[in-house]
Amino acid sequence: MGLIKIIHLTAVVLTIVGFITRGILLLRQSPLMKTVWVKKMPHIVDTVLLLSGITLAWVTHQNPVEQPWLATKLSALLLYIGLGLIAFRFAKTKGVQLVSWLAAIVVFFFMVSVAMTKNPFIL
Ligand code: HEM
Repeated sequence: MGLIKIIHLTAVVLTIVGFITRGILLLRQSPLMKTVWVKKMPHIVDTVLLLSGITLAWVTHQNPVEQPWLATKLSALLLYIGLGLIAFRFAKTKGVQLVSWLAAIVVFFFMVSVAMTKNPFIL
């Protein structure tokens, strides 16, 4: 396995562990949500995730226009980001926070499945 893929997969694990942890902190209204680590870490990890993904697509000559799995993954990424924004920024009630956070986690694992099978249709 190449170095970029190891970086990509490390970022995949870190991003979801961070996302799940932040959701728990959010729902418990933990003061830790205001700490620098909790605020800055996701941006660093997500930048590495995105850049390593783009690099992988580049070096393996996979283009989302020709590769339906990659197009599906990128569309799901937008959905994951949108649901994350709802959960952590826009939701006013705990119910909406919980549902959008859980939905984002489902979308995330759909992305892992699409990436592993290279098949956009199997969940
Ligand atoms: C939350 C976001 C992401 C998740 C969960 C994710 C997940 C994964 C996983 C699990 C693999 C390994 C698949 C395997 O078993 O070979 C992978 C590979 C890959 N990912 Fe991502 N990824 C994400 C974001 C991205 C982005 C933003 C891009 C591109 C712009 C990207 C492009 C790729 C490419 C090209 C591969 C290599 C596929 C191959 O081996 O040919 N990923 N990703």
